[in-house]
Amino acid sequence: MFEVVKRDGLARIGKFQTRSGVLETPALLPVVNPKICTVSPRELYEEFGFRAIITNSYIIKNNPELKAKAQEVGLHEMLDFPGVIMTDSGTFQSHMYGEVEVTNEEMVGFQKNIGTDIGTVLDIFTEPYWTKEQTADSIEITLERTKEACDMKGDMMINGVIQGSVYQDLREYCARSMAPMDVDVHPIGGVVPLMEQYRYLELVDVVISSKRGLNPNRPVHLFGAGHPMVLALAVLMGCDLFDSASYAKFARDDRMMFIDGTYRLQDMQSLDCNCPACRGLTLEALRKMEKKEKERTIAKHNLYQITNELALVKRYVREGRLWELAEMRCRSHPALLDALRRLEEHWDFMERYDPISRDGAMFYTGAETRGRPVFGRYISRLWDRYIPATDKAALFYDEDSKPYSRAMAADFNRARKAGYTPVVVSPFGPVPAELDELYPIAQSVFPKILDSDTLIESESLTVNFLEHKFTETINGSDITDDGTEVYDPDMIRAKAVSRYQFGIDATDALFRGKIELVISKNTGKIRNVISDGEHILSMRAGDGLYTLRKEGADRIVSAVPAPFMRVRVSDDAVPFVSEGKNVFCQFVTECDKELRPMEEAIVTDGNDKVIATGRMILVAEEISSFKKGVAVKVRSGAGDET
Ligand code: GUN
Ligand code: ZN
Repeated sequence: MFEVVKRDGLARIGKFQTRSGVLETPALLPVVNPKICTVSPRELYEEFGFRAIITNSYIIKNNPELKAKAQEVGLHEMLDFPGVIMTDSGTFQSHMYGEVEVTNEEMVGFQKNIGTDIGTVLDIFTEPYWTKEQTADSIEITLERTKEACDMKGDMMINGVIQGSVYQDLREYCARSMAPMDVDVHPIGGVVPLMEQYRYLELVDVVISSKRGLNPNRPVHLFGAGHPMVLALAVLMGCDLFDSASYAKFARDDRMMFIDGTYRLQDMQSLDCNCPACRGLTLEALRKMEKKEKERTIAKHNLYQITNELALVKRYVREGRLWELAEMRCRSHPALLDALRRLEEHWDFMERYDPISRDGAMFYTGAETRGRPVFGRYISRLWDRYIPATDKAALFYDEDSKPYSRAMAADFNRARKAGYTPVVVSPFGPVPAELDELYPIAQSVFPKILDSDTLIESESLTVNFLEHKFTETINGSDITDDGTEVYDPDMIRAKAVSRYQFGIDATDALFRGKIELVISKNTGKIRNVISDGEHILSMRAGDGLYTLRKEGADRIVSAVPAPFMRVRVSDDAVPFVSEGKNVFCQFVTECDKELRPMEEAIVTDGNDKVIATGRMILVAEEISSFKKGVAVKVRSGAGDET
């Protein structure tokens, strides 16, 4: 059973329940070679805190001594490891050395026999240079073997490996075909050669196309990914488990892993590492160490680099800022920068999981930041949902502090009085004055000196927008006369934010009859929207977006047909949700696929009657696939709280 406890886009912090305890993900499993234990499993558990390891059942099976011991006392006792043990099946040996002389049935049976927690199918490693036909044929064999493994797994969990070389359609097909099978974990396989050759660009295609076909309720393992430099990116793409053999392999030939790459001891100028393994050591002292001691020291150093980075990745996921860490990390190598740029092409998929709002500000780290889903989403909503209050625009530039309508209040006022809608040319593209307080416009930090890519892009988006939405544009600084137009900036904002958030039809239903706005005396910001005496919306000060109240939800439901904004629950959940209890996945019978994480949702019963409002935690696809967990965080009581 896998439960997501915190998510940031596709990245997730999860709890994976196994026979040997609950494993928190993302997790990295050090590879333990049962013949050479550079760092013992007990040390991995106690000194480094690893709660799971991976070892190779094929190696154990082929070594009479190890085989007898494993069968006699079991894998956990043989390795002296109290945590979760995953085993691989011999597939990697076939990739390295050619055909292996075992059957899938034998390998799965053996793994069960020695007490593995998570065993692996004997999948076929699809090499990146394979033809499409060869790849497609071998996937069919892997799928058959996966079915066979599921039938015989008993209480062992099983790894169903996604193969498909670099063919995205085959990756997705393979993943989709395994969704109905009783698989517990999905490793993405056949990627070691891509990583060895720094083909991270293709790795992005491979991971995302696999994710597209996968069932979201199972952890995804990126087979063979263990270098700290790729962890942030891989977690961002939705990978939950990793394994590293490199920490020990590299140590054997004097290679040290750092967050920005791998360095040979002989090429290094100084050690400058403060990890517990290196602390107090000089480069000279490390070089002069006796072979075994040196190997152990470097292996431990490598493990510390991995654990440090994994802890940092988790912190960024918890803070909802993993994009920022991934962008920073991807600047450490041009091949990773390619990966980051490639990720932009999977915008459609990433956007489905990207939250509508986050706590805290969004930091811009460079031109690639524009590839994040928030940018495209802002522009697409602006195009589809924004209706200007006047047909003339006055252009301003993002020079002052934010929100713009405060920093440039006098200029905006003059423009409005002359009948113009103020539009700011920002790094997001055009921002009409009335949208300047919502996430991410006001909650973002950009450098003062922008890169030319962003300037050009923002300019071209603005030109398009102006042509599309206005009949006339002038420079804001050219307006000198005092006009006489009467306008209500708060009312313009109240409607514009509603259209941006809920769309045009829902806004027509919400802003019906007599509208009054309650403005905060302290901040001057809109707090509540009252329509015909009913409090329908509350605006959150933090992200400038609305909280939908039940009275507002009723209006949307009578005007816009289901499934729009709806999360429908089964009859047995109705009494609980009506009392303000959260909606759990297993009670959802239908859900609008357009709802994004953190978006306002309307919880309805089987007759489309509103029973509560709340915020989405998971998206439709996840809700239908998860057996546990909160789908919608329901707002109890009056609905003023966020
Ligand atoms: N280890 C690294 N890559 C793979 C793979 O594709 N399949 C299996 N079973 N193990 C691996
Ligand atoms: Zn170190």
